Amino acid sequence: MISSRALELQPSATLKVTGRAKELQREGRSIVSLSAGEPDFKTPSFICDAAIEAIRDGAHGYTMNTGTPELREAICAKLKRDNQLDYQPSEIICSNGAKQSVGFALLAMVNPGDEVIIPAPYWVSYPAMTQLAEGVPITVRTSFENDYRLTPEQLEEAITDRTRVLILCSPSNPTGSCYSREDLEGLAKVLRKHPQVSVISDEIYEYIVFDEDHVSILNVAPDLKDRVALINGFSKGFAMTGWRLGYLAGSEDLVKAVSKIQSQETSAPSTISQAAGLAAYSGTLDEVHAMRASFKERRDFMVQELNSIEGVSCFSPGGAFYVFPDISSYLGKKTPDGTPITDSTSLCLYLLDACGLAVVPGDAFGEPNGLRMSYAAGMDDLKEALQRFKKGLEQLS
Ligand SMILES: Cc1ncc(COP(=O)(O)O)c(C=O)c1O
Repeated sequence: MISSRALELQPSATLKVTGRAKELQREGRSIVSLSAGEPDFKTPSFICDAAIEAIRDGAHGYTMNTGTPELREAICAKLKRDNQLDYQPSEIICSNGAKQSVGFALLAMVNPGDEVIIPAPYWVSYPAMTQLAEGVPITVRTSFENDYRLTPEQLEEAITDRTRVLILCSPSNPTGSCYSREDLEGLAKVLRKHPQVSVISDEIYEYIVFDEDHVSILNVAPDLKDRVALINGFSKGFAMTGWRLGYLAGSEDLVKAVSKIQSQETSAPSTISQAAGLAAYSGTLDEVHAMRASFKERRDFMVQELNSIEGVSCFSPGGAFYVFPDISSYLGKKTPDGTPITDSTSLCLYLLDACGLAVVPGDAFGEPNGLRMSYAAGMDDLKEALQRFKKGLEQLS
């Protein structure tokens, strides 16, 4: 017997393309994949060394459910150093990744039937996690012209008596867009009028920003601190996706509630990963900055090349490692064998089958006019991918 909760949950829409890509690869086809959601770098060696040392030193047991006091202190010091935010260790709970922190935050904040505002294009897990918490995802479509950022007017219009949470993600997966100080001030103004609305601020791509410094909503609206669950982790900035380490910073009440859920579901993250995280936040950011410089070079290349393709528009995203070009002028066209391109998914399946290029359809993220390309790949792959993309589009009529 499978529960209706599990039956109703949609598997990640990105799997449709990545599953097909793997199938074709097994058949021996050459596939260039720009579908990765993780850095193509290795974790800096001083972080790996700290983990090895922890193993040798016998750090083999459980830690406190909220994480080691040392790591929570280091997170507070980091939030002060990098974000000018004041937190106490009692306001921090470490987790097995930012994903878990978002999911548990929703479980702790949302009652059945509560509405959660999710700007689209969104990270695929937000609506699904909202449903698991028995909340109602309210997706708000943002515009390409505004670099897919939610406006204060859109937020105001979406808020109802049932609204409980707004999820912000900056820099964004899937668009790479970053909210500016001014954007966040506008949103904060609306939030002040609606005290029942809390914010989950997912800042997992914080270290991968190219043009401006990262801004958190708490930098412009410190008065909202008790209503904001700030979520971050080590996966993206330090290339530590497999270590599974993230955290939530929020009010003591929220941390206690999340801690109860975590204590029953997973307990603390791996002791060894916590030792690695402590090293990451205590050491230099030189390698983080080197990875960022490399991503910036690739971002510039991708944006320039995409905009040189007829019918494709792409703004220059301020962060993360994704571009999200608008391909709407190709919807409604036909492939050389006459198959209609009805939506972004059919375009991506055509690009995969006919051209050997794996990219993720915007439909998966709630934006049918776009698709996501990850540039967490080597320059040779990026060049080859764009050639395949251009050729594939030219063959549509
Ligand atoms: C927006 C966003 N939040 C959270 C996560 C998950 O991060 P973690 O690896 O720390 O669980 C991802 C990973 O793809 C992401 O893109």
